Amino acid sequence: MVSYKELGFVNTKEMFKVALERKFAVPGYNINNLEQLQAIISGCGETKSPVIIQISKGAREYANQTMLKYLGQGGVEMAKELGYSIPIVLHLDHGDSFELCKSCIDFGFSSVMFDGSHLDYEENIKVTKKVVEYAHERDVSVEAELGVLAGIEEHVISEEHHYTDPEQVEDFVTRTNCDSLAIAIGTSHGAYKFKVEKEEDIPELRFDILNDVKKRLGKYPIVLHGSSSVLKEYVDIVNQYGGALEKAFGIPETQLRKATEFGVSKINIDTDGRLVFTAMVRKYLSEHPKEFDPRKYLGLARKELIEMIKRKNREVLKSADQADYIKI
Ligand code: G3H
Ligand code: 13P
Ligand code: ZN
Repeated sequence: MVSYKELGFVNTKEMFKVALERKFAVPGYNINNLEQLQAIISGCGETKSPVIIQISKGAREYANQTMLKYLGQGGVEMAKELGYSIPIVLHLDHGDSFELCKSCIDFGFSSVMFDGSHLDYEENIKVTKKVVEYAHERDVSVEAELGVLAGIEEHVISEEHHYTDPEQVEDFVTRTNCDSLAIAIGTSHGAYKFKVEKEEDIPELRFDILNDVKKRLGKYPIVLHGSSSVLKEYVDIVNQYGGALEKAFGIPETQLRKATEFGVSKINIDTDGRLVFTAMVRKYLSEHPKEFDPRKYLGLARKELIEMIKRKNREVLKSADQADYIKI
């Protein structure tokens, strides 16, 4: 059992407070391996952005939970060594049980998500509240979810969106005492977010629901999952070098900027990072058929991911240059 404070992480409290005051969104970037973590530290360090490093249940199984704890701590130490003074959160993404959330808290995570969106309303409240009680005793933050995103959420597979019902949010937040709330307003996970033929046909997010939720909760941190834009330039590179990603569309960055202006405090991005990585690895190996040193192709992927993160922080989430306003 270790406290996240010993590892150098912070919880989300202070960064969300500042995000709400200064109208930016904290990035939630997912990791599975060393190079993704390095890219996040460099990209967020260079842009002076706070960051939430997200680890899904699948990532935890892939990378080993003990390894992840030290990998995360290594990220904190790397930031210090490079002179980056940014707050870093280690967060469980889509925890599906009290036991998993508890285990991550005991392993040094500073924030956990309990995703009870697949449960009925009362059961979601019951388990979220239990997670919150355990977490708050240890000064750990809890993200909860109301509404269901279309697509696959690890354990939740849904054909349709079940948009968040604004009438439930006050009751849910009051009764669970969760620190932030993920809502469903039309985003979804993965690279195929819309069944459309062209980008122009992508529908608008439900800003009316977001607005209603914000009115009811006031200055309270709202989270958007499934917020990759499925950047065309990388989809094209994947396809140019042997991939087959067809009709892959995401949330246009203009809409994410608008969501940030509407007061969304955290935006989750995983798929875009995966696409950058795959595009660069495919391109490098195809152009250098005799090369077999992983540092070459993973190094190129890492370099490109740093650029993507810097641009997202500056142009979409507006989290660049905000770290100095957050007390660590
Ligand atoms: O929300 C899901 C994240 O993109 C994590 O995906 O379960 O494949 O690690 P994963
Ligand atoms: P994307 O699949 O759109 O990147 O969403 C990631 C996410 O929500 C992680 O929790
Ligand atoms: Zn998610």
